[in-house]
Amino acid sequence: MVPERERPRVFSGIQPTGSLHLGNYLGAIKRWVERQDEKESFICIVDLHAVTVYQEPEALRRGTRQLAALLLAAGIDPARVTLFVQSHVRAHAEASWLLSCITPLGWLERMTQFKAKAAQQQSVLTGLLTYPVLQAGDILLYDADEVPVGEDQKQHIELARDVAQRFNHLYGDTFVLPRPVIGEAAARVMGLDDPTRKMSKSAKARGHAVRLTDSDDEIRRAFKRAVTDSGREIAFSDEPEKAGVNNLLEIYRATTGRSRQQVLDDFAGARGYGDLKQRVAEVVIAAIAPIRRRYRELMEDAAELDRILRQGAEAARAEAEPKLVEVKERMGFEVPDELRR
Ligand code: AMP
Ligand code: TRP
Repeated sequence: MVPERERPRVFSGIQPTGSLHLGNYLGAIKRWVERQDEKESFICIVDLHAVTVYQEPEALRRGTRQLAALLLAAGIDPARVTLFVQSHVRAHAEASWLLSCITPLGWLERMTQFKAKAAQQQSVLTGLLTYPVLQAGDILLYDADEVPVGEDQKQHIELARDVAQRFNHLYGDTFVLPRPVIGEAAARVMGLDDPTRKMSKSAKARGHAVRLTDSDDEIRRAFKRAVTDSGREIAFSDEPEKAGVNNLLEIYRATTGRSRQQVLDDFAGARGYGDLKQRVAEVVIAAIAPIRRRYRELMEDAAELDRILRQGAEAARAEAEPKLVEVKERMGFEVPDELRR
């Protein structure tokens, strides 16, 4: 049955590939941290999603621990949030199979992220196509109603909702229908080198992204080189040629939590874009430098990190396993006692 809950449940996931950047922080992580008191939250390091493109095994292992440490450093509090690694909870892979059997191929072929990633590859792996089904399982196993993500994930969350609805229709009310919660500021942080492209982990160009582990000087340099335009006007704008300046202002707004008007007031006396870039860099450094310091400390305490992830997986299993049993029973599977807890 779909449970009635007092507090909305939040679920979100993030892949342990590449270095986290300012887009991940402002579009997702900072918002998870801000909401961890009001909502019952589950934050999942989605290593099973990561292998939809080949990962060097050592890099995957390292990336998973680094991401866990970085999330903790950014303020995710394991006392208030269930932080866990997806592959530590077997129910995710199993739910993905079951849900794939009620998901029409056409739904998956329509996903814009699939189309974009598939177009870059010679041979397209099956997992890349069924990726959103695994994601639907992540969310549905926890009865999550809210999924805070960046704009790029909206379509995947809507698909999870469609899958839940279809399952409920076929087998009776089982899943909560989730909805994407997209932040108003920084839903889409753009590349500093090219403000027409979203800041992404996979882009390798220097000066594209600001990583959470970058030094203060690296951050200053990246902003200094940020692409703007030949004008002088510091204003929020949807015009393509102002995309660079708009991106800098949006970064400043999301980092400081100030309103658009306050941001414009802050820059009323600015002397051109050089000044703008420098001041955006300084607020970003103020936000990121403490995260980088805490991250280094956490990476040195392997036992503590293990303990936190073990505890998170245990709490996640306590939710996901009974839900999976319910799903299987609804579908008509025999569930032996040893699979019940
Ligand atoms: P990913 O980098 O694809 O693993 O994404 C992790 C989280 O960060 C997801 O919630 C994304 O929607 C969010 N995200 C990724 N890139 C950006 C960006 N450039 N701007 C805002 N949010 C982003
Ligand atoms: N696909 C998401 C991304 O690339 C990560 C993800 C996996 C996720 N499972 C999730 C996000 C469940 C929200 C909820 O960003």
